[in-house]
Amino acid sequence: MKIGVDYYPEHWDEKLWPQDAQLMARTGVKLVRLAEFAWCRLEPSDGQFDFAWLDKAIGIFAENGIDVVIGTPTNCPPRWLCEKHPDILPVGDTGTPNPIGIRGHRCYNSPTLRKYAGRIVERLAEHYRNCKRVIAWQIDNELEANICCCDVCSNKHREWLRKRYGTLEALNKAYGNVVWSGEYSSWEQIDPPFGRYNTAWLNPAYMLDFRRRAAEDLTEFAHFQADIIRSYIPDAKITTNTWFCDNAPDFYDLFADLDFVAYDNYPTTNIPHDSEDIYTHAVHLDMMRGIKRQPFWVMEQLSGSMGCWMPMQKTTRPGMIKGYALQAFAHGADTVVHFRWRTANIGAEMHWHGLIDHSNVPGRRFAEFAELCKEAEALESLRGTELLSDVAILFSTDSEAAFKLQPQTDGYSYMEQIKLLHQAFARYGLNVDIIDEYADISQYKAVCAPELYITDKAVSDKLHDFTRNGGTVILTVRSGVKDKHNNCIMEQLPTVYRELVGCHISEYDPIGWGTNSIRFTDGEIFGCKQWCDIIEPDTAEVLARYECDFCKGSPAVTVNRYGNGSAYYIGTIGERGMYEKLAKHILDKNGIAYIPALPENMEITTRTGNGVTAKFIFNNSDEEKVFALDGEEISIAPFEMKIKSE
Ligand code: GLA
Ligand code: ZN
Repeated sequence: MKIGVDYYPEHWDEKLWPQDAQLMARTGVKLVRLAEFAWCRLEPSDGQFDFAWLDKAIGIFAENGIDVVIGTPTNCPPRWLCEKHPDILPVGDTGTPNPIGIRGHRCYNSPTLRKYAGRIVERLAEHYRNCKRVIAWQIDNELEANICCCDVCSNKHREWLRKRYGTLEALNKAYGNVVWSGEYSSWEQIDPPFGRYNTAWLNPAYMLDFRRRAAEDLTEFAHFQADIIRSYIPDAKITTNTWFCDNAPDFYDLFADLDFVAYDNYPTTNIPHDSEDIYTHAVHLDMMRGIKRQPFWVMEQLSGSMGCWMPMQKTTRPGMIKGYALQAFAHGADTVVHFRWRTANIGAEMHWHGLIDHSNVPGRRFAEFAELCKEAEALESLRGTELLSDVAILFSTDSEAAFKLQPQTDGYSYMEQIKLLHQAFARYGLNVDIIDEYADISQYKAVCAPELYITDKAVSDKLHDFTRNGGTVILTVRSGVKDKHNNCIMEQLPTVYRELVGCHISEYDPIGWGTNSIRFTDGEIFGCKQWCDIIEPDTAEVLARYECDFCKGSPAVTVNRYGNGSAYYIGTIGERGMYEKLAKHILDKNGIAYIPALPENMEITTRTGNGVTAKFIFNNSDEEKVFALDGEEISIAPFEMKIKSE
């Protein structure tokens, strides 16, 4: 496995470059990512390119045996370009262009931006096509599906709608524009969501389409750049670094035509002690692996205190630098690149700490990083090994976006139930896949399909077939609520899933911060919060009932026999223990081997292949853990990873 660092030669005196590269080489750093914000240095004026400094930096790294990832600099167009062609700037919801001097100041759809971005990418690809040290390319930086309100994007959106709906009549109907007299009588009336109101006031059908189109455009922008690189370097390895942001891309579309997934991984340094708080990053890592169902990279990895956009957070506790990077390997990464080598002494990010502090004196964190480099090297034989899993969780891009547009109740978050289900199975030492709702699921024994809020026939058919053929599915609150347009379906919930789960919801209670509790038929009781579906079984068996309030006695959790399989329905948001109870029950019923519940915040995953089986045993907590595993007593320090290969 490889460890790299993010490095900004343009931020430092050239005298530091060889020193830094030598120290990297001595420490065991295998690669650096360079240049992703350096457009003003690569093209100081229109058409004048200067790659000499980058050649020099790459040369120094090459002399030290270090490979390079080039980031295309399109996130930050230079000032001369913005001044000459203000039409490249994205326009915010106030109708005014975004300011320059921060970053991300480019509209993906602007033809002028495309021209200049295409040119710089082309020049870079042409220049470095024979450079063997350049092992991968990163497109732009943390691409987000922002809604740009410029004229180009507005027109593009109108065209997109015209293609999708054909006529204004169809569009008005799909959006329900009769509400508040919103019907369009010409395509030109379709404006982007100018922001006098928060989005919750706007039509959810209209808003979801904006997000979809923005995500498509972003994907298209990434592919536009990838195609240029490939035209010069047909076997280039191309990615982009992604993260969980407000305007998330469609991860599955974005990476479909890229070579591998790269993720920016910043786990928390502030360990909460409320056992209901699931802070592990394992769920995000599993999701990244699941995008292409292939090994992925971390392109930016936590290296110290995070600050800048917020007050500085706690620095990494002893063990975290090493432990969190190894945790990424444990979940399918095969390269981890730390952000960043040295903390910036200049610019807005000077408090987002790198491995080395402002003083340039390597300290505690660096020493731990050096150990990590050695450990990673020793894991090289695991490159290409896989995490096999019997259990998957489906992620719905549309539903996630729709929940962001319409908050369901206080405290409700789409990701929370994914985390709860993930944690429940992970607690038993299993690998858990998180995959696209549209992905093939035939290889799994149990599939969690939480909160499939926006329905799609392909997905519901697949879940029915899977269960009919003997699979186990778990559905939860807010399933089957909306049609493709993000409008409510006129049927009792969970509408398209009613037959599958064998029950319907006669009423629901969005209790928000309020609480209730449920009692299982064996007498076990768990607290629940945020949402209570009052379930009426059609054919399902009741597993738990509410304890309090007017829904007291009503079913809260059910299971239905469907074909040769079983469909569970969880009508509330329970404590962690409730999901663990169900997970254990499902594992037992399906004959899936597992480890008896691990101590809290202990994580075990397994990578197999190359004739090896490696167990990654990780203490993701700030307390020592002692427990029995395979008849042996294990004692494991905070954030320690033990790896056992057979
Ligand atoms: C993101 C960006 C980096 C940097 C870090 C730290 O992940 O990709 O450029 O800004 O955050 O703030
Ligand atoms: Zn635009």
